[in-house]
Amino acid sequence: MTNTVIHLQPEGSAADINANHDDHGDRQCMSRRNFLLAGGAMITLAAIGLPATADAAPIHALKAAYPKTRIGSLSALKLGVPVDFAYPYPDVRNILVKLGARAGSGIGPAQDIVAFNQQCPHMGGPLDGTYKEKHQVLGPCPLHLTTFDLTRHGMVISGHSTESLPQIVLEVQGDDIYAVGVQGLVYGYSAMTARRA
Ligand code: FES
Repeated sequence: MTNTVIHLQPEGSAADINANHDDHGDRQCMSRRNFLLAGGAMITLAAIGLPATADAAPIHALKAAYPKTRIGSLSALKLGVPVDFAYPYPDVRNILVKLGARAGSGIGPAQDIVAFNQQCPHMGGPLDGTYKEKHQVLGPCPLHLTTFDLTRHGMVISGHSTESLPQIVLEVQGDDIYAVGVQGLVYGYSAMTARRA
């Protein structure tokens, strides 16, 4: 469950951000703080409840909202079988998966349906095809072996990454599943406001 507590106003305009991105032609031209506070996408500071199995207090995370996009349906999802989709841009690869265990920000009757980006936040290693149904994890990354817990917002279990896997924020309406935002910064993007250079 997500409880919004604060809405932040962007420090710079979208035009400023895109100009900065183009000038450098790479993905390092904005600080993470500026990305999180940037215009273009609505940035929300939210308190996110961890699943009942987690002992920790609720964590705080920033998320960026994007156009609501239908990515699947409850009835078509099979337990433990990930479905690939692109969001919020055509080259951002993600998986939608029914874990069979309650998850942070999970949707559906069992709150066990989640979606995550498939590029390792450490150095962009491809996590495609590494989902492990038995433990509800993604990984290990083929480059430096980081493994991510999909029941706990993509938290690092082991390996070199110091950042959680970006989680796609989901909503459900009837049988339809929609992506509505991204929590975290997808590897290769200095800001989620423009296509990757
Ligand atoms: S790129 Fe995945 S752990 Fe380094």
